[in-house]
Amino acid sequence: VVVGAAMVAGGVAWAIIAWRGSGPGAPPPPPRGWWETADLYQIYPRSFMDSDGDGVGDLPGITSKLEHLVDAGAGAAWLSPVFQSPMVDAGYDVSDFYSIHEEYGTMEDFEQLVSRAHELGLKILLDFVPNHASTESQYFKDSEDRVEGFEDFFVWADGLHDPENESNILPPSNWVSQFGGSAWQWSEKRGQFYLHQFSVQQADFNFRSPAVREEMLRIMRFWLDKGADGFRIDALPYLMEANPADHGGHYPDDPLSGRKEFGPNQLGYTVPFYTKDLIELYDIVYDWREFVDNYQRENGGDTRVIFTEGYSNISMTMRYYGAEGRLGAHFPFNFGLITDLTRGFGARDLVYCVLKWLTYMPRGAVANWVLGNHDNSRVTSRLRPALVDGLNALTALLPGASVTYQGEELGMRDGRVSWRQTVDVEACSRGNEETYELYSRDPARTPFHWDRGPSAGFSSNASTWLPVAPDHREVNLERQKKEPRSHFKVFQALKALRKRPTLTHGDYIVEALSDKTLVVVRLLAPLDSFTLVFNVAGSSDTVHTDWIRNLKLPATVYVASVSSKRNAGDVISPGLLELQAGEALVLQASSL
Ligand code: FRU
Ligand code: MG
Ligand code: MG
Ligand code: CA
Repeated sequence: VVVGAAMVAGGVAWAIIAWRGSGPGAPPPPPRGWWETADLYQIYPRSFMDSDGDGVGDLPGITSKLEHLVDAGAGAAWLSPVFQSPMVDAGYDVSDFYSIHEEYGTMEDFEQLVSRAHELGLKILLDFVPNHASTESQYFKDSEDRVEGFEDFFVWADGLHDPENESNILPPSNWVSQFGGSAWQWSEKRGQFYLHQFSVQQADFNFRSPAVREEMLRIMRFWLDKGADGFRIDALPYLMEANPADHGGHYPDDPLSGRKEFGPNQLGYTVPFYTKDLIELYDIVYDWREFVDNYQRENGGDTRVIFTEGYSNISMTMRYYGAEGRLGAHFPFNFGLITDLTRGFGARDLVYCVLKWLTYMPRGAVANWVLGNHDNSRVTSRLRPALVDGLNALTALLPGASVTYQGEELGMRDGRVSWRQTVDVEACSRGNEETYELYSRDPARTPFHWDRGPSAGFSSNASTWLPVAPDHREVNLERQKKEPRSHFKVFQALKALRKRPTLTHGDYIVEALSDKTLVVVRLLAPLDSFTLVFNVAGSSDTVHTDWIRNLKLPATVYVASVSSKRNAGDVISPGLLELQAGEALVLQASSL
């Protein structure tokens, strides 16, 4: 029997991952930290629930619907930013890190949200946006005015002389913003350029300034004191840029990608060598981990967590977990299921994608599985709607935390948002009336479908900040709760399953049986095993039960995808198993 002790690998203490029972009379599995097997639910506050009829979601709306999270088996929620903001980038342009955005409510509303969540046993994580602040923030105004103590709060630089035009000043380097255009913006007031890796209104903090680093800790402490259980941390790969001191006193140009389809001010023209994934940024993340760990030690209570966001290659992503003896994020979000699968993906692609994370993850670290978020087309639209139950089953069966973007529990699809209705800054800056759909994140942000009524029960207002998707009459929570079989009911069954020791502590096998069908087996003898069999293809597939390692037959169907002809309780005997397109079955069997 391996008991749950801490192991020390390379100077880093990791919690142990797999526990094996030793037959009848085995001790119960050691408890895990709440976050290690968490069902984490992302709330997009603008689109979750509107309590006051202004067509915009708000905090009292969230509070009124927290029971839904409990119903959906969630143990924790992370909220996209709720801080004061001019809303250029839907709240990711924070103008006051210490107050609540007025459309969303008051500080009291926030306190009520947290206390109600805690009553219900839910953790609440806030979205911490350290890379940048709104140009309307006091920090920026003071920095632009060179107020003492704030001069270096942002990344300021002199322009370059234009050899072709004496009266022109060029930006300090060729850096391109994530939303297109130069990443440098001229400030008339200060007579210098400031850096913005995102929109012009999101100025990058200067993390080489100790004052900035201290301020970040102050912000985190403020919200932890208010009861937040931790943070999702935004846009980390962009935290630091090359230091001019290492480059003869100026900002070095990023190398050119050589890709002719991009013009000099388009994302993709350069390779973000000096602007992304800088090795120095990780120490700051490790400092934040130390900070939240110390906070917990000093204040008691459960672990305060940090989950980091970044789209980077696998080794730079894994580095967020920790390195060289220091701990980092409790986990960095795993975006593989978003970035590495295309519409026509097969079982082998999916297995490869899953194993990639598990293979690169440091020993004993905690995995996590993300199907979607507010920045990407919804999983049903991105891949295929028929796969919703199977994909939810996959993220439920895999070891570690399972992350759900609001609406995925219903199989919600992208909404339709016309050019006139489009508000996303990325769509508006990178696209035009013809091309905006390539860039717009609005379709994944339309309001949640509570019921079939006007505005889907999201708002009493017929006009909402983004249009409600017309398919809310078919796809909505109220209906899925009533129907004998629905995506939501499958989701609930899966979440209940995740509480069992076999899923929280068991071993796993992830394998493709064919081009179309894969299995995830979870084992913890002497307890029952659970096996997901999932045909991801658009046509049927026949596999043989003998191909599934460690499955003792007969097995029973624990839960089946909505369109499956099989029902919970059906018996699966040894032999050929035909699976319809998209069919997913979770089988329960006694251990070998
Ligand atoms: C994810 C994100 C976006 C936002 C950006 C900058 O990359 O959360 O929604 O536009 O970070 O804060
Ligand atoms: Mg409102
Ligand atoms: Mg600019
Ligand atoms: Ca930065």
